[in-house]
Amino acid sequence: MIKKLPLIFSVSAVLFVGTAIAQTPSLKDVFKKEFLIGTAMNAQQIEGKDTAADRLIKQQFNAVTPENCMKAEIIQPRWDTYNFDLADKLVAFAKKNNIKINAHNLIWHSQLPAFMHHMQSADSVRQYFVNHITKVASRYDGKVYSWDVVNEALNEDGTLRKDIFLDKLGDDYIVEAFRLAQKAAPHTKLYYNDYNIEQPKKRAGAIALIKKIQAAGVRIDGVGIQGHWKAGNVPMADIEESIKEYSALGIEVMFTELDLSVLPNPWDKVTADVSATTEGSAKMNPYTKSLPDSMQQVLAKSYADLFTLFVKYKKDISRVTFWGVDDGQSWLNGFPIRGRTNYPLLFDRNLKPKPAFFRVIATVKK
Ligand code: XIL
Repeated sequence: MIKKLPLIFSVSAVLFVGTAIAQTPSLKDVFKKEFLIGTAMNAQQIEGKDTAADRLIKQQFNAVTPENCMKAEIIQPRWDTYNFDLADKLVAFAKKNNIKINAHNLIWHSQLPAFMHHMQSADSVRQYFVNHITKVASRYDGKVYSWDVVNEALNEDGTLRKDIFLDKLGDDYIVEAFRLAQKAAPHTKLYYNDYNIEQPKKRAGAIALIKKIQAAGVRIDGVGIQGHWKAGNVPMADIEESIKEYSALGIEVMFTELDLSVLPNPWDKVTADVSATTEGSAKMNPYTKSLPDSMQQVLAKSYADLFTLFVKYKKDISRVTFWGVDDGQSWLNGFPIRGRTNYPLLFDRNLKPKPAFFRVIATVKK
């Protein structure tokens, strides 16, 4: 009898732990019939150095986007040197855990390798453009689910951003990027991704761009609205209108980098332009210890409103991806002001689900 006691204890302990885990709902299961639920993965998580986050990723998400490791500066650091190390590890992690990868990204004005910064000749830019897309996209064809082929090519007024690609290759470079990607990755979905493209002027620019790609007979499968917004000030009407207008083009609509900042913005306008940074001050960083309950509720309400809308348009939306697993990982702790404490995601710094998580879960009526 006495000998059996520890066994009874350990069985009940296992049962208790098991129930505790089972009690946290899983986003990917709850939204199984609606859309994929994704997160961005950073290097630590891909390397398996953050086992707690990895456990949560497997439990909660069925889609991942590499936060940085497939960007040009990392994957092609020099003209003739590619570094596929982390990207290959991500592919292995996703395969093992039955997770879809949205590869991010092929062509973007930011996080370019240093050798691109002073490139003058149009011939060299063209050579880089063709080689980079072909080499990287073909390597991962059949291994990743989708590519953000072009990222952030538009200005706020809907015109094309004057970056190195527009400057050296001309107006058709986006169509060409999709054409090259289609050839190199025939089994991979191809997307255009940008921030603020729910806003009317920029949206009109994105629609013109998508129509231009389609008119050229080139494949584009979807559009990603990044979704870097402010808690308490989410542009709901513009988002709803965007879902309708983009899906009318016959393509998938996705929310690809969702996070809702709770901190003051140094500028009038919301931007996700990674080059836009500014100096901090105590006033700009009000919640260094914890998020007050009133703000926690504002965040939860914004997330609830958004997911209610997403569920309403589930037939048009194929994926909703958060830009990070937990508040500690978020790029918004360093952008647009370095060293702040932000709380934009559904899991807190201890990987515990926040009130916003439960409000999101409750938007699905089973
Ligand atoms: C951010 C990453 O989260 C940071 O780690 C990095 O330092 C800068 O880029 N739009 C995008 C993402 O498409 O790639 C950016 O990610 C955030 C804005």
